[in-house]
Amino acid sequence: MKPSVILYKTLPDDLLARLESHFSVTQVSSLSPENLQQHADAFAKAEGILGSSETVGKEFLSHTPKLRAASTVSVGYDNFDVDALTSRGIALMHTPTVLTETVADTMMTLVLATARRAVEVAERVKAGEWTGSIGADWFGIDVHHKTLGILGMGRIGLALAQRAHFGFNMPILYNARRHHQEAEDRFNARYCDLDTLLAESDFVCISLPLTDETYHLIGAEQLAKMKSSAILINAGRGPVVDEKALIQALVDGKIHAAGLDVFEQEPLPVDSPLLSLPNVVALPHIGSATHETRYNMAACAVDNLIAALTGDVKENCVNPQVLK
Ligand code: DGY
Repeated sequence: MKPSVILYKTLPDDLLARLESHFSVTQVSSLSPENLQQHADAFAKAEGILGSSETVGKEFLSHTPKLRAASTVSVGYDNFDVDALTSRGIALMHTPTVLTETVADTMMTLVLATARRAVEVAERVKAGEWTGSIGADWFGIDVHHKTLGILGMGRIGLALAQRAHFGFNMPILYNARRHHQEAEDRFNARYCDLDTLLAESDFVCISLPLTDETYHLIGAEQLAKMKSSAILINAGRGPVVDEKALIQALVDGKIHAAGLDVFEQEPLPVDSPLLSLPNVVALPHIGSATHETRYNMAACAVDNLIAALTGDVKENCVNPQVLK
């Protein structure tokens, strides 16, 4: 008999077929309490789950006594209680490599859009305000040759550094848990402490996961250390930045602008003050959201679940200790 799995995300037909060739699949729209109740038998039998953007903690695990593997269609896994999974011997699989270039493109989009005020001035064109030669009140600031500071030199940070160094001649500063030789050798990136990075960067780019260590890493104190001409970019996780403090810093002119793909609450509430600030570019968490990359992530997640449930994991496991 094929192992039972729960799918809580829509997959392209060919990937669903691949999943179904290995498993008996029950599809649900989400991991909501209603679905847990309605599909209680399927959850009770499930050896694997595959999906994204849902909380998987102790309460959820109490409904899945046979679970052996969870496969998320994302690189981030802050919505999983990894300790709880690990103590139950459940493998957590994620998709760390296939989205790197696309998320780095998103970060560069935010750098350019905020510096050149692309969204704001495009709105002014649509509003019929382009009635003559534009004046200084439409101007942006240069990106090329400015200093780019990267918080978190993982795969995405490295891909951002590559773009900034080769494409825009930007000096790179970075702060991370350890020195990154490749970044230093290939992109001339300079390791520095957080305060130095904040003080010297024209763009402070956050490419960090959400952990106890990174929660509200950037608050009022850190924002006050940035140049008043500097721009904050966050495409990691929203709660890495204290959003209230960021709004205050933007309102008070402590920093020049912010480009945000992630927020403390997603979707961003429509009454968020961020949405009425002209110097904020707010994107709906599009980091990896291209047709190609989302397909590749889903394919990777399917392969990850197959590997985990057939005892053939070679990569992409967050808690490999459960495999031993
Ligand atoms: C992830 O995979 O964690 C990213 O946030 C998706 O854009």
